[in-house]
Amino acid sequence: MILPVPATPLHPLPRLARRLGLGPEDLWVKRDDLTGLAGGGNKARKLAAIVADALAKGCDHLVTGGGAQSNHARMTAAAANLAGLGCDLLLTPGDDSGNLLLDRVLGARIHWLDGGPLPYAETEAAIQEHARELAARGRRPYAIPIGGSSPLGASAYADVGRELAARLDPGLVVVAAGSGGTQAGLAAGLGDHGKVLGVDVGARPGLAEAVQELAAEAAALAGLPAPRGRCRLDTGQAGAAYGEPTGPALDALRAAARTESLLLDPVYTAKAMAGLFAAAREAPRGTRVVFVHTGGLPGLLASRYAGWLTSGRPDDAAAGPAAAAEPS
Ligand SMILES: Cc1ncc(COP(=O)(O)O)c(C=O)c1O
Repeated sequence: MILPVPATPLHPLPRLARRLGLGPEDLWVKRDDLTGLAGGGNKARKLAAIVADALAKGCDHLVTGGGAQSNHARMTAAAANLAGLGCDLLLTPGDDSGNLLLDRVLGARIHWLDGGPLPYAETEAAIQEHARELAARGRRPYAIPIGGSSPLGASAYADVGRELAARLDPGLVVVAAGSGGTQAGLAAGLGDHGKVLGVDVGARPGLAEAVQELAAEAAALAGLPAPRGRCRLDTGQAGAAYGEPTGPALDALRAAARTESLLLDPVYTAKAMAGLFAAAREAPRGTRVVFVHTGGLPGLLASRYAGWLTSGRPDDAAAGPAAAAEPS
């Protein structure tokens, strides 16, 4: 395999569990932030499958797009380098920090999407259009949808769903849902939508329908039956818009950092953890909950979030683990 993904750790989070009033063995994390590939994250599994497909089809160029802080764009640039492919990224303008800075370091060709953040469907259309233009100039482009959420990309997460089922048999798996492919693949692997709570980060309209459809397609590609039940989403954590910070996300981000030294990002994983906090309060006692950490660390370092991350009471920023572990 051109982009091998190493086995990632699966371990309990006893200190954070205690803070949430859960038993020490009732809260686990799947560390898919540790996949490798220029900083790691959930896109590594998707891109391993997608790049293999691109190479099998004789393509010489990857084309994708998204927001300025797209982790998927950064990891596509990294995957292209390793596979010996060119990489064109269509991005919302932003400053040179976090993921965007890494896109530049990795040498991707960046094209700005005019007029600020485009609606989801228009960004998808711009990716397709750019690929057509490259083809007209004699290239062999491979267009990757936002977030790598083609059925093939989503099917890569069926493996993680199967691993979790075999090793822990969790009652609830919580994951950030942007383009929806990761949640879809997990549901396919677990065989049950009801076991996966996607926390909608506000990236995509029609997310529930997309997850439902992608899960059936991903399952078919993985040789599995379509998962039973209906897609489960927490739509209460996104805040004002995709990428806009929220109070519960900041609380969750600080709690994870100050109990388990687990670093989350403002756009995806902190909102997902806030959704987990809410779900854990409702779950029957003894439910085994798994948080799928999908990466995103470069986004934490984007300059636009620095003020938000250091906001609050002056003693908040200085509080060490003991203070942070106290129930609020
Ligand atoms: C760090 C991180 N977590 C979660 C997601 C959401 O994954 P998906 O797009 O498959 O829903 C993304 C997608 O960009 C991401 O970058």
